[in-house]
Amino acid sequence: MDSIPAFKIVLFLIFPFITADASTILPHKIFNVDNYGARADGSTDDSQAFLRAWNDACQWRGRSKVLIPLGNYMLNSVTFVGPCNGEMIFVIKGTLRAPTNPALFFTNTWIGFRYVDNLTLEGGGYLDGQGAAAWPHNDCSKNIGCLPLPISLRLDFITNSRIQKLRSINSKNAHINLFACNNINISHVRLSAPGNSPNTDGIHIGFSNNIKISSVNIGTGDDCISMVSGSQNIVISDVFCGPGHGISIGSLGRAFAKEYVMHINVVNTTFRNTQNGVRIKTWSPSSPSLASDINFQDIIMDNVNNPIIIDQDYCPFCSPTNKLIVTSLNNLRCFLGGESISQVQIRDVTFRNISGTSSSKVAIYLQCSRVVPCHKVKLVDIDLAYREAGGPAIASCSNVYGASYGKQVPSGCL
Ligand SMILES: *[C@@H]1O[C@H](CO)[C@@H](O)[C@H](O)[C@H]1NC(C)=O
Ligand SMILES: *[C@@H]1O[C@H](CO)[C@@H](O)[C@H](O)[C@H]1NC(C)=O
Ligand SMILES: *[C@@H]1O[C@H](CO)[C@@H](O)[C@H](O)[C@H]1NC(C)=O
Ligand SMILES: *[C@@H]1O[C@H](CO)[C@@H](O)[C@H](O)[C@H]1NC(C)=O
Repeated sequence: MDSIPAFKIVLFLIFPFITADASTILPHKIFNVDNYGARADGSTDDSQAFLRAWNDACQWRGRSKVLIPLGNYMLNSVTFVGPCNGEMIFVIKGTLRAPTNPALFFTNTWIGFRYVDNLTLEGGGYLDGQGAAAWPHNDCSKNIGCLPLPISLRLDFITNSRIQKLRSINSKNAHINLFACNNINISHVRLSAPGNSPNTDGIHIGFSNNIKISSVNIGTGDDCISMVSGSQNIVISDVFCGPGHGISIGSLGRAFAKEYVMHINVVNTTFRNTQNGVRIKTWSPSSPSLASDINFQDIIMDNVNNPIIIDQDYCPFCSPTNKLIVTSLNNLRCFLGGESISQVQIRDVTFRNISGTSSSKVAIYLQCSRVVPCHKVKLVDIDLAYREAGGPAIASCSNVYGASYGKQVPSGCL
């Protein structure tokens, strides 16, 4: 007692609420899932115990920490919903495992968070989506009405939050999905799934603003990072991507409504053995939309199939000879025969300081729309070699306006 000055005791007696409400100086109150009945035996469904811990933590008027200790926790589809009464820290030290029972596959979320402000997800543990059991059930490459498999970690309407020091392996669908989020930092995260696992995007972003991604290592079967409509003010740095399909903007223009992606900055990224490096793709045909103010800088390509690519003729469901699969599902529509045309405007795009090797001869492929050509595209200090002994790499461009500066290997586009 002698270390507590008398006036503090007096204050506490007179104004007990001062200390009770000063959440910034109190340590977090801990809500350990084991105290809520979680078994960590790898087979019992612990989701209800997690939800009870979350609900108590969320209602606590102060800083709360939901703690998942070391151990194997089996979780069915579960969503942690706010708003909460204070800052939330969700510490995953153990391994969370998803179901392998096919009856539980067809839901869009494995672990979800919704309507939470000031959330931190961390702890060094694993989210194990156990995707190998589910990937054979994915027929989305041939069936556009396919039922989606669950995304491992889905953040919807989350603000001022962080995901750090976490690992996700073998997601059934994407590893992390951000929808309608604002001010999220993702760092020191490792995401992995085999290069041939279907639709296992690393981080997929839509309708979100102020997102920072740094120091992440992603190896997966689809895009390492993809940004679709409504993504703006996204800063991505210090990324290793491979295997995977690269960092992509789009696909844009699939919906009938106008779509947009703006203010994207991708710096200091290494791509190794990926299908693409930096890519912008728009559906063809597509409705009027916009992708602008995009910077790709300080990038190393190591054996990348399409290092720099703008593809405004993206329609994987359309056959090359007969551009048709008309359907009302997902508003997808391709033309029967004839030319398909994207109406997505792409402008103010800079590719700067990009070097390394291409595994295909065409290292730069900028295929813009005939009706709305790309504007203000800049190529600055590009040095890309064709890896095979088939002569130098080449650049192939159409409907692109802009300028080039510094070293240009291969040259000839701008
Ligand atoms: C989140 O943090 C901000 C800034 O510290 C604070 O104003 C706000 O009340 C917090 N919200 C919650 C739910 O803790
Ligand atoms: C994210 O990081 C930036 C600095 O890089 C910082 O200004 C911002 O407050 C951080 N946001 C959160 C939610 O931690
Ligand atoms: C670039 O990213 C790598 C990998 O994350 C990191 O080790 C390195 O420090 C970064 N370089 C700069 C200049 O930020
Ligand atoms: C170009 O990018 C590489 C790879 O990120 C980086 O190490 C190098 O410092 C950059 N060069 C300049 C001039 O910024």
